Parts: sequence; C-alpha cells; structure tokens
Amino acid sequence: ETRQDLEGRMVLITAGPTREAIDPVRFLSNRSSGKMGYALAAAAKARGAQVLLISGPTPLQAPAGCQKIDVLSAKEMYDAVMDHYALSDLIIKAAAPADFTPKRYAAQKIKKVPGQDELVLELEKTPDIAAALGAVKGERVLVGFAAETQEVLQHAKEKLRDKNMDIIAVNDVSQPDAGFDVDTNRIVLLNRDGEEKALPLLSKREVADRILDEAIRYLA
Ligand code: PMT
Repeated sequence: ETRQDLEGRMVLITAGPTREAIDPVRFLSNRSSGKMGYALAAAAKARGAQVLLISGPTPLQAPAGCQKIDVLSAKEMYDAVMDHYALSDLIIKAAAPADFTPKRYAAQKIKKVPGQDELVLELEKTPDIAAALGAVKGERVLVGFAAETQEVLQHAKEKLRDKNMDIIAVNDVSQPDAGFDVDTNRIVLLNRDGEEKALPLLSKREVADRILDEAIRYLA
C-alpha cells in the first residue's frame, strides 16, 4: 500500500519534447521521450495527488486517472502551464521544451533551389517557462531539471537560483544510461537550502519517487 502523502495536493507535471515548426512538413525537436515526466505523473498519482500532465508529443499513455493536456510547441506549453499552474501545489518541469524556435514559419514547404547549397534558418528564443513560474509561484513548490553535458552542477546551481526553483534534478545527459529516452536515470538533487544528494542509477519510476520525497518537504 503506497503512502498517500500527496492526498489533497494538485501536482502539475510537464513532460516530453516540443516541436517547433519550420514549414508544413518539418520541425525542430529533441530526444526527450516523456518517460521521466510520465513516471513522475504515475508516482504522484499513486501517492494520492490529483495530477495534471502537460505533455509534448510522445506515444506514451497517460497514467490512469491523470488529466492530460497535449501541446506541440514551447509557446503552447508555456500557455498551458500559465493557464493551469494557479491551482497547483507542486509544479515539476520534466519536459525538454525547445530553447529556440524558427523566427519565421514558412507557410509553404521550403523548396530546394538549383545552385543554392546552403539554407540559413534564423531562430529566436522561446519563453522560459520555469523562469516565468519562478517569478509568480508564491508558496507553490517548483522543481526543475537540468540537462547538461558539461560543468553540470555549476550550471544547475545557477539555474536553481536564477529561476527561483526549490529543487533541481540534475541529469548528466552525456551518459548512455541516464537522461533522454532510456528507462533509467542518475540524478543529483540540489535544493534551495544548498543540500546536494547524489542518487544511484535507478529506474525513472524510482527517481520520480525520490524527487517527490524531496518536494514534499517543501510543501506548505
Ligand atoms: O523525456 P525523457 O526521455 O524521459 O528524458 C528526460 C529528460 C532528460 C528530458 C528530463 O530528465 C530533463 O532533464 N528535462 C529537462 C530538459 C531541459 O530542457 O533542460 P534544460 O537544462 O535545457 O532546462 C532547464 C529547466 O528549464 C527544465 O526544467 C526545463 O523544463 C525548463 N525550461 C527549458 C526551456 C524553456 N523554454 N522553458 C523551460 O521551462
């Protein structure tokens, strides 16, 4: 019998990649499968929470009893999160939203032009969802992730502070058994009180429960 330590709590979780449209047939995306976010949704649900999953495109099924909103682009994810965060107690940003999106969407499929060997695609920044939440969160608990390939902990500490997060889960995505797509993850949990906990290699579901254990300590 799972401890119902999230009973009466509303948990908002973002998961998966985003797609940034270039033209009607092409997009920019990344290797996120959604597994980490969906594991968090299943774990929070099992612990008694009401769960809202805001998900980029993935073939995964939402865990039973979780409400799901599908989005495509980082801007759509931003809008959905901003529309729904207010009722939540805990927000976990496990998604991998694009940092940049094409500056212009080509309404027609971009064609090859004879003699033209290069195509320059101009990109612009997407809204930073975690930072926007950090600015308005109030008493809500905000958990972010950091997917880095170098100077992992230093970058994560800066993210935690700059985006006003309570906890950040750091995955070194250059390791083959952690981060994107695989069923396991190896994370370091940093919290706003400066504590640092390195977890061993675990299934994403076990990682999810360890993140929830830590987040519950900060719930008002
Ligand atoms: O989906 P899986 O295949 O299971 O893989 C899991 C994962 C590696 C995607 C996940 O564990 C993870 O690390 N997610 C965060 C990926 C990411 O975007 O990291 P980042 O360091 O670029 O961003 C830091 C934080 O800001 C993240 O919480 C991210 O959700 C958030 N962010 C990023 C960009 C943006 N425009 N808005 C954001 O809120």
